[in-house]
Amino acid sequence: MTHMHITAWVVGLILLLVSYAMYKTGNKSGKILHMILRLVYLLIIITGFLLFINNTGVYTNSAGILGEVIVKMIAGIWVIGAMEMVLSKISKAKPAKSAWIQLIVALLIVLVLGFGRLPFGVQFMG
Ligand code: HEM
Repeated sequence: MTHMHITAWVVGLILLLVSYAMYKTGNKSGKILHMILRLVYLLIIITGFLLFINNTGVYTNSAGILGEVIVKMIAGIWVIGAMEMVLSKISKAKPAKSAWIQLIVALLIVLVLGFGRLPFGVQFMG
């Protein structure tokens, strides 16, 4: 499940960048990729919740970890919200700076918690 979760959000970030570039250059396929990206959001959320549900025992038994995983999940939803904000701004040719800043902040929180602190999957940030 961790690998599916990671695959889902990596695919999501790639789709975000490609549809962003397409919207910027006026390519009509940006809209289609944006729609596919919305399905990928669902996959990210479902795999994330499954990871949580399958491992609630681990989270509730280790002091402090439950709080961190809850913050991780909220920040994960925030990442998705910020991705959607970036694309909705850019599709209307509006400045997307504040959406990008949110995306980067939320992504940093999620990566540090996911790779650095929480127990499952790869742990390459210490
Ligand atoms: C684009 C948004 C998201 C990104 C970039 C992201 C990223 C990550 C990363 C890097 C990990 C750690 C994987 C590993 O250690 O190998 C992870 C694990 C996890 N994610 Fe997400 N995630 C996102 C959205 C979500 C959402 C929306 C939820 C819940 C609703 C969620 C729940 C979880 C859970 C429960 C884990 C397991 C943590 C553990 O190792 O104990 N994620 N995610």
